Amino acid sequence: MDNRGNFSSKLGIILASAGSAVGLGNVWRFPTEVGRNGGAAFILIYVACVLIIGVPLMVSEFIIGRHTHANTADAYRKLAPRSGWVFQGYLGVFTSWFILCYYGVVAGWTLKYLVDALLLNTSAITNSSAFFDEFKSQPLAPLFYMMAVVAMCHLVIVRGVQGGIERSSKLMMPLLFIIMVVLMVCSFFMPGTEKGLTFLFQPDFSRITPDVVLSAMGQAFFSLSIAMGCLCTYASYFTNDSNLTKTAASVAGIDTMVAIMSGIIIFPAVYSVSGLSPDEGSGLVFKTLPYVFNTAFANAPVLGAVFAVLFYLLLLLAALTSMVSIHEPATAFIIEHFHVKRYLATRYVTFSAISIGVLCSLSLGELKDFTPLFGMTFFDFFDFISAKIFLPVGGFIISLFVGWRLKRQLVEAELTNNGSLRFPRPLLIGYIFLLRWVIPIAIVCIFLKELGLL
Ligand code: PHE
Repeated sequence: MDNRGNFSSKLGIILASAGSAVGLGNVWRFPTEVGRNGGAAFILIYVACVLIIGVPLMVSEFIIGRHTHANTADAYRKLAPRSGWVFQGYLGVFTSWFILCYYGVVAGWTLKYLVDALLLNTSAITNSSAFFDEFKSQPLAPLFYMMAVVAMCHLVIVRGVQGGIERSSKLMMPLLFIIMVVLMVCSFFMPGTEKGLTFLFQPDFSRITPDVVLSAMGQAFFSLSIAMGCLCTYASYFTNDSNLTKTAASVAGIDTMVAIMSGIIIFPAVYSVSGLSPDEGSGLVFKTLPYVFNTAFANAPVLGAVFAVLFYLLLLLAALTSMVSIHEPATAFIIEHFHVKRYLATRYVTFSAISIGVLCSLSLGELKDFTPLFGMTFFDFFDFISAKIFLPVGGFIISLFVGWRLKRQLVEAELTNNGSLRFPRPLLIGYIFLLRWVIPIAIVCIFLKELGLL
């Protein structure tokens, strides 16, 4: 265990895992989903999904990773040698690598917006919608930003578990949190504060439909980084005295809090400009917000610029800590499986992800009519296959694996650190019941819905 590295402290464990969970999913996707699905009612369902599905699955990945102290592919091989379950290990490694390929493209956009905000380049905000569409379809600029962000991630990963992942999380996560608090305080003084907060916190139960429930489940999966090999890989670096349940609860708590804080930052801002609506979809942070920065702060442009810089720095930090966790499963796999040095393994993953990332980025512009993969562009294909296929399939297998295949004693020993922690029996029974029945059924429903079959 020592020569593969491990996190040095409980704080390091929580901040690194929270760094993985807190990402564009919280600051970008969550407000988008809340806006689209009717505000407060969606949030209530989302929190229920986090508790009933998210936390148990996260604990399950922690059990697999920490018990084996191995990369995701070898973890399943150690627990269930020569069985079909080993497939899930490889799937985890692949899913994270697939996500890395296109997540870098979006993370690159956040860097571009940050640079523009810093340079006070107003073209991003005066005609925000056209600017965004034009920028992402350019051939070279998005590639440059994507490569820059992946390179930053590379510099973290190459320094290893403690010196890279843990250290960067300890730096970036508190910074992210401070920025969030500053932005949140600002948003309490905007003209649209009351409307924004009502939208966010006053549930209209008539908005709850099966569709809303399924969207909330899907969002919980993505936001908590479940079934992508990341949590399992990180858990393989946990020390044996870490409390898995408490860690999962803290990570889920931080993740949910950051998502709701993002809502508190974004919706008052959106409601401060007349004519804008919260259900803008995925353009919310790249199109709507720049417009808000420009309009709401028309009389105080400096304040608007500061707000914009802080907001895009926040997005970039969130994206970076997640990307680091997406990079690590494949890197750890190559290091341990092929006995390759970390700096080389990191290089392989970075270069391969950049090569595919170039295609993903170009497929939003120059290559948009090139659709060799099931009629989809590269970007859409990588997004579809990882988020809509691999992710639910992975979650399904993990819940069955820990619920049915792993020995109850092993699960209990991990949850109680070999008997030194208390884990009430009814809770254990409830946990296994969720894994065996509730979660697999819920996942099948998400899956069918994503494929348009439900
Ligand atoms: N959970 C991250 C987010 O909210 C996304 C992510 C996906 C992280 C896959 C790791 C792995 O943005």
